[in-house]
Amino acid sequence: MPLLFKKVKDLRNYLHGLKCERGLSVGFVPTMGYLHEGHKALIKNSKIQNDITIVSVYVNPTQFGPGEDYERYPRDLDRDMAVCEELGVDAVFAPTDEEMYPEGFRTEVYVKGISEVLEGKFRPGHFKGVATIVLKLLNAVQPDRVYFGEKDYQQLKLVERMVRDLLLPVEIVPVPVVREPDGLAYSSRNVYLSGEERESALSIYRSFLLAQEMINQGERRSEVIKKEIERFILSHPHVKKIDYVEITDSELNPKDIVDKGDRILVAVWVGNTRLIDNWKVS
Ligand code: PAF
Repeated sequence: MPLLFKKVKDLRNYLHGLKCERGLSVGFVPTMGYLHEGHKALIKNSKIQNDITIVSVYVNPTQFGPGEDYERYPRDLDRDMAVCEELGVDAVFAPTDEEMYPEGFRTEVYVKGISEVLEGKFRPGHFKGVATIVLKLLNAVQPDRVYFGEKDYQQLKLVERMVRDLLLPVEIVPVPVVREPDGLAYSSRNVYLSGEERESALSIYRSFLLAQEMINQGERRSEVIKKEIERFILSHPHVKKIDYVEITDSELNPKDIVDKGDRILVAVWVGNTRLIDNWKVS
């Protein structure tokens, strides 16, 4: 079993010996637990590139808005520990709320601009919570490399911006979206979907294939492609609404004309579950 730390102080003591005395490199995978194949890909990359791999498991309350799924977000630390053991993770950091947000906590990190668009428009305050906890976790672990999935593409870009702006001495390693064999992107929230809803959720991946095919055939107008994605996804039962379909360059600037390397980003409600996904145009 990996070591389990609940306190920053104990984690730091453990890491101090490994980094300062033995000169070992540290890879870090921050998660909210309920680990799936997407997380496993992050962990496997870290295992290859570093001597030591640390995984954090913490459902961060400040990145959930009122009425969101903080309470029902799936949690199972024993299961996560077993996954980490199977993959050879060295230590898991699973702090309590008191440890991360002790009485009197007042500091927040806000990354301007990127926090307000796309997800930020629909989840006000979300990225402030993400930036704050990611900075805290990075300070607790002080890794050489940190691993983020491209599934949460805007989160990845936000963290890249914060790391550059605040001169944090860490390398960010992006890892491509991992999909189930039928194309559904792995997400801890997939457990909320009924069988029928899951079937409708596949429309997201299929709409990306459709869009890519349009682009392959020569269509490059974003408006036309976005309309087709929306029409296709909304034609499926259980799809309640689409929060957004956007096409941007790799830095999240909206594009009118699509090029290779651009991103298609969507947020879709299937039943009561909000799913996000994105596609790199090739
Ligand atoms: O992507 C996630 O699981 C979370 O947003 C993160 C990065 C662990 C911060 O709570």
